[in-house]
Amino acid sequence: MVIVVFLCLLILAPFPSSLGLWPIPRGLSAGTATVKLSSSFDIHVAFNNVPADLDDAIHRIKTHLKTDTFERLVVGRGSADANSVHRAFSIKDLTLSLTQNVTIRPVAVEVNTVGIEDRDESYILTIPAKGTQATLVANSTLGLFRGLSTFDFMWYHFDGEKYILNAPLRITDSPAFPYRGFSFDTSRNFYPVSDIKRTLDAMSWVKLNVLYWHIADSQAFPLQVAAFPELAARGAYSQEEIYTESDIKSVVKYANERGIDVVMELDTPGHTTAIGMAHPEHIACFAKSPWTKYANEPPAGQLRIASADTVNFAKKLFQSAIDLLDGTMMSSGGDEVNLPCWNEDEDTLAALEQNNQTIAQALDQFVQEVQGVMNANGKMPFIKSDMVLEHNVTVLNNTGVVVWKSSLDAVSVAQRGLRFIHQPSNYFYLDCGAGDWVGNNVLGNSWCDPFKTWQRAYSFDPYANLTTDQQHLVLGGQMPIWSEQSSSENLDQIVWPRLAAGAEVFWTGATLPDGNPRLGVNATSGVNAFARLNEVRYRLVDRGVKAIALQPKWCALRPGLCDVDS
Ligand SMILES: *[C@@H]1O[C@H](CO)[C@@H](O)[C@H](O)[C@H]1NC(C)=O
Ligand SMILES: *[C@@H]1O[C@H](CO)[C@@H](O)[C@H](O)[C@H]1NC(C)=O
Ligand SMILES: *[C@@H]1O[C@H](CO)[C@@H](O)[C@H](O)[C@H]1NC(C)=O
Ligand SMILES: *[C@@H]1O[C@H](CO)[C@@H](O)[C@H](O)[C@H]1NC(C)=O
Ligand SMILES: *[C@@H]1O[C@H](CO)[C@@H](O)[C@H](O)[C@H]1NC(C)=O
Ligand SMILES: *[C@@H]1O[C@H](CO)[C@@H](O)[C@H](O)[C@H]1NC(C)=O
Ligand SMILES: *[C@@H]1O[C@H](CO)[C@@H](O)[C@H](O)[C@H]1NC(C)=O
Repeated sequence: MVIVVFLCLLILAPFPSSLGLWPIPRGLSAGTATVKLSSSFDIHVAFNNVPADLDDAIHRIKTHLKTDTFERLVVGRGSADANSVHRAFSIKDLTLSLTQNVTIRPVAVEVNTVGIEDRDESYILTIPAKGTQATLVANSTLGLFRGLSTFDFMWYHFDGEKYILNAPLRITDSPAFPYRGFSFDTSRNFYPVSDIKRTLDAMSWVKLNVLYWHIADSQAFPLQVAAFPELAARGAYSQEEIYTESDIKSVVKYANERGIDVVMELDTPGHTTAIGMAHPEHIACFAKSPWTKYANEPPAGQLRIASADTVNFAKKLFQSAIDLLDGTMMSSGGDEVNLPCWNEDEDTLAALEQNNQTIAQALDQFVQEVQGVMNANGKMPFIKSDMVLEHNVTVLNNTGVVVWKSSLDAVSVAQRGLRFIHQPSNYFYLDCGAGDWVGNNVLGNSWCDPFKTWQRAYSFDPYANLTTDQQHLVLGGQMPIWSEQSSSENLDQIVWPRLAAGAEVFWTGATLPDGNPRLGVNATSGVNAFARLNEVRYRLVDRGVKAIALQPKWCALRPGLCDVDS
């Protein structure tokens, strides 16, 4: 055992400085030979009945190999490698195969029908130094898709050629955590479907696999559902700012074909004021003033949890949304409920008296009812951590808890024996640090100040403060964008490339493959995180995603030279 570990360390360290892989694979051996793709390069599949979504993925990659123009980030760019590219061996073919005895299913079916912890995303990719044939092997089409993403995002362009500098290459890879998400708020401000799809593409390039879709909130209800079309008709900002049923289906399909699951969050019972635009009878303290007393954000309002009619409405709403959604997971949210809102609502007080219930009991029952709908439809339910930690509601034992307020809350959730994902505001929130948006608080800061840098997110340890026995409860994590101060105009810039930090944390794991901490004092040492993330940024820009610069280009072209003391 000791010898095996020792050998792995030898193979894995050091990570070659001219290999821009993100997330870093968990098993890698690399050489120093340059290889390029032949002008007749093609991708073949060594089995019949290739699912259409895998075939489409192959076509997208072949298109990228023609259209990408990203040159290696060194002084002189691609021309620095001109001589070795000129002499390099050519790879003629990448062949995809599945291990024996696996059922061939579309990528989307793997995503939709296999529970998140049971998916096989592993793959082995080899690129020879002197042969002509690269190979990709996996146990599932999903594994092939992940391996294709690696292949898709690793080539350097120069003078019509695509090349790498580290052949022979053998990557033996699989994720450390099954859940690697992005939480997207499309309510506070609306985003067109094309924005969501562009984001899904970029997510797939860094192997993120969950779009956690916070689709509605107090300010707007853009979700169209068959049971209650009036919710979007009256609750959306406009008729143009609605996700129709066909939009939802099209986003889900687009995601699934890219190995991404959509977990829709219908945040309840708080954050629901916009439902009152069509159904005021279900909302307590609707737009009540001052909002600061009744809600964390304007306008105040939350579901009348004690009313049987409202509980039935919520169940029907969940069912109607579920009818649009494939997949094995869904969320009922549950953050930031406000007790004065219910305590001063006559309808709620009357219902509580009639039911002989406290607010806590009504809340507990409400959560059980909506979880029941998700469970009956085969969806693993997710819930926000304050429901469990502050309100002690009863949850199904297969619930996934979204730990959000603070990274410190993970320990308390683990002590309950519940599985969870990390979404701590003190590491991962992409929206912090932009000042206060409340109108008359001109000198205010965002509640989760300061801005969360990529380094901060990247330094997160998913096992921090957990006992060894609790580690299996960590499903993974996600970085969220809350859209009070974001919109279509700055989506790419606020999300990328920082979101890629979370992608590597949860693909590669609590440490680097060699066991070292991910980010020590030196972001350029070891696995060259800064240099690799600069590459991600330039590759994203090359493909039309407006990711922001992390450094002056001078530094990006000279890895390490902008380090302190360099
Ligand atoms: C594949 O399945 C067949 C029939 O079930 C079995 O005979 C064979 O041993 C299996 N091969 C492997 C490698 O598992
Ligand atoms: C495939 O499954 C086998 C058996 O579980 C496992 O050993 C292997 O690592 C998996 N992945 C690949 C790419 O073969
Ligand atoms: C109301 O509930 C309390 C405690 O759950 C119980 O002691 C009491 O008998 C109930 N009252 C009625 C009228 O059912
Ligand atoms: C939480 O609820 C459970 C029963 O569901 C109870 O046993 C436990 O004491 C409660 N904990 C707190 C802190 O209220
Ligand atoms: C939840 O409880 C059921 C029934 O007791 C059990 O079969 C299942 O394995 C449990 N699931 C988890 C994730 O603990
Ligand atoms: C782990 O616990 C220590 C001590 O409470 C705390 O300072 C640290 O921030 C915790 N780590 C995380 C990631 O929350
Ligand atoms: C950081 O890493 C670079 C490259 O490996 C090395 O030259 C430098 O000495 C390191 N700096 C520190 C402070 O460890």
